[in-house]
Amino acid sequence: MNGPRPRRHGESRPSRQHDRQTDRRQDSREGTRPARPASAGRPAPGDDRRPRRDTRDAPHRPGPRPTRVELTFLPGLGDVLQEEIAATLRPERPAQPVRGREDALVVEHRGPLTDVLTLRTAVAAFVSLHFDVPRPRSLTSGDHLGRIVDAVYASLRARGSSTFRFEAAGRDSVAFAKLAAALTEATGLRHDDTGGELVLKVRRGAARSSDGRNPGGGRPAADVDPGWDVLVRIGPRPLSARTWRVRDYPGAANATIAAAMSRLGGIHAEDRVLNLMSGSGTLLIERLLAGPAALAVGVDVDPDSTAMATENAAAAGLARRATWVTADVRSLPPELDGPFDLVLADPPWGTLHGSHSTAVEVHTGLLHAAYDRTAPGSRLVVLTHEIAVMEKVLRDQAARWTVRTEQRVFAKGHHPRIYVLDRT
Ligand SMILES: C[S@@+](CC[C@H](N)C(=O)[O-])C[C@H]1O[C@@H](n2cnc3c(N)ncnc32)[C@H](O)[C@@H]1O
Repeated sequence: MNGPRPRRHGESRPSRQHDRQTDRRQDSREGTRPARPASAGRPAPGDDRRPRRDTRDAPHRPGPRPTRVELTFLPGLGDVLQEEIAATLRPERPAQPVRGREDALVVEHRGPLTDVLTLRTAVAAFVSLHFDVPRPRSLTSGDHLGRIVDAVYASLRARGSSTFRFEAAGRDSVAFAKLAAALTEATGLRHDDTGGELVLKVRRGAARSSDGRNPGGGRPAADVDPGWDVLVRIGPRPLSARTWRVRDYPGAANATIAAAMSRLGGIHAEDRVLNLMSGSGTLLIERLLAGPAALAVGVDVDPDSTAMATENAAAAGLARRATWVTADVRSLPPELDGPFDLVLADPPWGTLHGSHSTAVEVHTGLLHAAYDRTAPGSRLVVLTHEIAVMEKVLRDQAARWTVRTEQRVFAKGHHPRIYVLDRT
């Protein structure tokens, strides 16, 4: 069969396709083609062939054109993600909400797109493109297609993929078949509508008025065609998918929520960190992946859980940095080190590892254990689904713990809360 052979992409464009693109540019420069080349003169988004910079130490200086990056998050975690973006990517302007969406921020990023892959509280990251076109059919025309192809290559340079798929209303239409064929022709990626790794979302742009304002709040209705957005995901999997999770534990915490808990509790290299009721280790692993700690100990009553946590931590490259102890938090072994500066916990909920009838006892035991192993000024960050129970236990222990913040999050139909408590 003729046609482009699928292959796994890595750092650079596939040579045959690259040559073809280059040839087109040269043809155009030499005037042998009447049409303007797809992307001539434009720096590719997220071009990371420059030497890597340490993004922690210095703000990005104006350089080549920035890449517009859209980041999705679990509802409730927008502020944490914004803070993580500011600390990690150091953008010139803070990330902004995406117009018309409640679960996404957009930021102009000048550095390599591999920086974006280090964000731990985001669900997914996309190169964001906007087109003032009336319908997706127009996206296959020269300049538009060139921008999409550039964004695909920018994503591939950050992390390889061999297939792609669309997430779009009407993705079975002739217009999308044509766009898929053009992308395959330009990149060598195979279109796999169900299992494609690289996701391209195509959606209507945000409604707007001719005065440039967002309609709503009594303003006149939008009178400008909103055009279309194309979002090219950076990486073959969402950022929230963790490669370290080699052992799946029913009831394991969502990793982006776990990462958010660490940020809310504060990440300090000198902290001694204790994860009570640690299960398969998500909270402690995400804490250690966010930054070093002086000590990291996880405790769970179930030996199978501590075995899973040990495997997950090893897969995360943390085998030597975390210790897992099998014990009941109500009778912690005296030899357990401490006192701890930060305690992380997500006590059992539902019927998986406990029951509602024991929730008061479990939450009370957790707060007692944390108090006993900490000093004044230490922080306890708890994720719980048992809101009424937690509120009661906090009232009972008001002399020991004060609530610094309380945050509702939404994950897979559940609405747990993150409590950040200060020890008195
Ligand atoms: C919701 S799960 C924790 C999940 C974990 N964060 C993860 O991501 O895998 C709650 C855990 O509490 C543990 N647990 C329940 N009662 C306990 C107790 N009294 N002492 C220690 N661990 C306990 C259970 O074995 C279970 O692993």
